[in-house]
Amino acid sequence: MSDQKRNITTTDAGIPVASDEHSLTVGPDGPIVLHDHYLIEQMANFNRERIPERQPHAKGSGAFGHFEVTEDVSQYTKAALFQPGVKTDVLMRFSTVAGERGSPDTWRDPRGFSIKFYTTEGNYDMVGNNTPVFFVRDPMKFQHFIRSQKRRADNNLRDNDMQWDFWTLSPESAHQVTWLMSDRGIPKSWRHMNGYSSHTYMWVNAEGEKFWVKYHFKTDQGVECLTQDEADKLAGADGDFHVRDLYNAISEGNNPSWTLYMQIMPFADADDYRFNPFDLTKVWPHKDYPLIKVGKLTLDHNPTDNHAQIEQAAFEPNNLVPGIGLSPDKMLMGRIFAYADAHRARLGVNYKQIPVNSPRCPVNSYSKDGAMRMQPVSDPVYAPNSKGGPAADGERYPTDSTWSAQGEQLRAPYSLHAEDDDYGQANALVNQVLDDAGRDRLVNNVAGHLLNGVKEPVLSRAFDYWRAIDQTIGDRIAEKVKSSQ
Ligand code: NDP
Ligand code: HEM
Repeated sequence: MSDQKRNITTTDAGIPVASDEHSLTVGPDGPIVLHDHYLIEQMANFNRERIPERQPHAKGSGAFGHFEVTEDVSQYTKAALFQPGVKTDVLMRFSTVAGERGSPDTWRDPRGFSIKFYTTEGNYDMVGNNTPVFFVRDPMKFQHFIRSQKRRADNNLRDNDMQWDFWTLSPESAHQVTWLMSDRGIPKSWRHMNGYSSHTYMWVNAEGEKFWVKYHFKTDQGVECLTQDEADKLAGADGDFHVRDLYNAISEGNNPSWTLYMQIMPFADADDYRFNPFDLTKVWPHKDYPLIKVGKLTLDHNPTDNHAQIEQAAFEPNNLVPGIGLSPDKMLMGRIFAYADAHRARLGVNYKQIPVNSPRCPVNSYSKDGAMRMQPVSDPVYAPNSKGGPAADGERYPTDSTWSAQGEQLRAPYSLHAEDDDYGQANALVNQVLDDAGRDRLVNNVAGHLLNGVKEPVLSRAFDYWRAIDQTIGDRIAEKVKSSQ
């Protein structure tokens, strides 16, 4: 660009500045003066560039695109975004869970799979993972779980002994840990992994009929994974391997896509289904509830300002639109509080006015003022009012995604359904889904992880944990660890 065409540098107030390089001094060798407010603006803003990173899921990136409905699922939901032929703009963010903002992309960890749909009836966020299950089933344990995966208090190091201590004392983690230690625990790239709601949600159709549903976004690129060895090498060679892969693919027009399928359970089936359908540590086997195709999600443009569009993005499972509701999954109900609270702390109370979080439909809320409010607020500022302010419409938008519940208040595990246990579905994964080579890699991955700092008594508990999942796999892991010690 020739000099004539370049913009002139300004202060943040738009005032042209005289130099990008020299502070204002008393003579060329003299002291810097305090009234060089441009230098001060540069230094002060720099000192405030970082915002708190996300507590979990700090490392990640994302892109924009759209979701297009290719089938007719209107018999299951009235949600505007899932009506036949509708195309909705989306923002997606992928992430790892435990590592900090600069941590390597190829550490073994679940991957976040967050989607913000900018629908005509408000923002709908599907904040899922690349696994269909989770480590715990009660939100009381989530904070403890995440701390066990992050850093110790004394030496500030991650610690496999701490991780296995928590897992082996939390047998409900067995299914997710089996998944994590198998091939899919390290995807080749974010483009090469599936995404799942993991939780059960509710869909409601125009007649008010309710269904329990699970989302499965299957990658159109095919599932591909990294071996532990490949991942370890990449962690040193290119910590941003997955960020780079996504950005480069989209820059080159190689746009990744996922096909959305749903599992749909009639509302009344939940009561006596063989597994508790709201337990986040369980899947619904496909033969019980086969996948129903809905549409295609495609990412086709990169962010231009990662901080404004990705770091400041606020995904929250409480952003549900008419036709989509919650389920009695306790984890999901815990999440409904946690995310908006995190966003108020991380981004400030008016975070939904940051452009990437703003709905693309009119907002007529009664929220008022607070730090960094950008959108104009007009009178009346209260409801009910007789001054023409917005009014809720319970007839058009009824509170219909509900279920009935009764009983004493108590602190207790879920009630058990006929086939509920902690190990059965993990065993199915080991024996019915993995092949021999996959089982060999599982044994090696677990043994390698245990050999990296797991001590007695946790080590023996880890062998028993695996024997409870599958006796042979447990014995093989114990043998491998003992012969390598
Ligand atoms: P199915 O045989 O019908 O489905 C097996 C599922 O496993 C497919 O969704 C497949 O996904 C996935 N899969 C294939 N290879 C692997 C792998 N190496 N690691 C993890 N998942 C893999 O069986 P069921 O539905 O009866 O489930 C059996 C077990 O499969 C479950 O216990 C669970 O661990 C696992 N699973 C089940 C899912 C479900 O929602 N029912 C979803 C994913 C896994 P893909 O088509 O992407 O290869
Ligand atoms: C991020 C809490 C369970 C997926 C977060 C954040 C919090 C949180 C506080 C950071 C949010 C932010 O600062 O923007 C919780 C709690 C849980 C829970 C309390 C359980 C009680 C889950 C589950 C999943 C999940 C089960 C997946 C199915 C994610 C993802 C992100 C995230 C993908 C990153 C969002 C983004 O890309 O910005 N979680 N979480 N979480 N969580 Fe959870």
